[in-house]
Amino acid sequence: MNHHLASDEISRATLRAEAVIDLDAISANVSRLHAHVQSRDVLAVVKADGYGHGIIESARAARAGGASWLGVALIDEALQLREAGDTDPILSWLAVPGERYAEGIAAGVELAAYSVSQLDEIALAARQVGRRAGIHLKFDSGLGRGGATPDEWGRVVEAAAAAQEAGAIEVTGVFSHLACADEPEHPSVKAQALEFEVGIGQALEAGLEPKHLHLANSPATLALPDTWLTMVRPGIAIYGVSPFADGQSPVLLQPAMTLRARLALVKRVPAGQGISYGHTFTTTRETTLGLVPLGYADGVPRHASNQGEVLVRGQRFRTVGRVCMDQFVIDLGDAEGAAGDPVVIFGDPSRGEPSAADWAVAADTIGYEIVTRVGPRVPRSYVGALA
Ligand SMILES: Cc1ncc(COP(=O)(O)O)c(C=O)c1O
Repeated sequence: MNHHLASDEISRATLRAEAVIDLDAISANVSRLHAHVQSRDVLAVVKADGYGHGIIESARAARAGGASWLGVALIDEALQLREAGDTDPILSWLAVPGERYAEGIAAGVELAAYSVSQLDEIALAARQVGRRAGIHLKFDSGLGRGGATPDEWGRVVEAAAAAQEAGAIEVTGVFSHLACADEPEHPSVKAQALEFEVGIGQALEAGLEPKHLHLANSPATLALPDTWLTMVRPGIAIYGVSPFADGQSPVLLQPAMTLRARLALVKRVPAGQGISYGHTFTTTRETTLGLVPLGYADGVPRHASNQGEVLVRGQRFRTVGRVCMDQFVIDLGDAEGAAGDPVVIFGDPSRGEPSAADWAVAADTIGYEIVTRVGPRVPRSYVGALA
């Protein structure tokens, strides 16, 4: 059931379009990944509203599938999970100075720390709250994004050891993030793993005893056993979307989200009809057009104009003309179709439906962006045992 809407509003709201989320698929994906990594800890990444699937529902499904940890970017997201009743380990890894550290610590949320100044700020908040902050130190082994560089790392681990000694924090984890795990043969993967080993060694030398060592995102969880260490951090894979460009996966991943709508209008037009803004498509013969009431405000990428395909009455049809803010047009040719017909924009390719990966190719992006960007105007509904 959609948690944003009163029950009498559901059928009206979902008349136009909805994203149906199969929570059993999320549980099953987590459970298969857990078995694949030989029962190491799984931290299921549920940031960004569970990659568009609903943070609370995705978290429940991931826990049911065996995720002992949840991962989020923001402390606000972690607090949302706590408010919904999740009491198990959560790691939050993206913060700015002045962050709500005290609230996070009071709620038992573990925090990533990237720098000495951040450690100072967290230690101060911990003293104010009167509770040790659980810390995962973030090492930049080569991604060149967040985390302490190898140059800074020595100072960070020394500061962390001192704050731990003083009773303000406890370093429970050390982690890093890979740049190119979706290309498993990329030389940076091995280089980062080696650099991370050195960083872990320095943390141990400083007297830290981090229980959780983690490096693997979805592609590494799927394809790079050397990166599994004590815990893996899959995000996109738990939602059933492959992180690889070819859409393949060595572990069966069931897509959790189906984006569907109903045709708003079906009409016959003559040859020579320009379609949608800019007339980037013109019919070459008499044809039937279907109007899909979803647009870029709902997450259908404008870049997929004249490319993306949908399923109507068991057949695939292509987008013609530009995707607009609220709607786009498909060319039904001479196929039967009527206003009100169900349209699947993407879902499970094993049912013949286009996949999020297909739309990613059409829009020259990645499946992550296709599912995560489904907008707030699209009601989510949930199916499966936990719905
Ligand atoms: C630190 C960290 N770990 C894990 C993930 C999960 O990545 P993926 O969705 O590729 O599994 C992310 C997501 O960007 C992340 O930022």
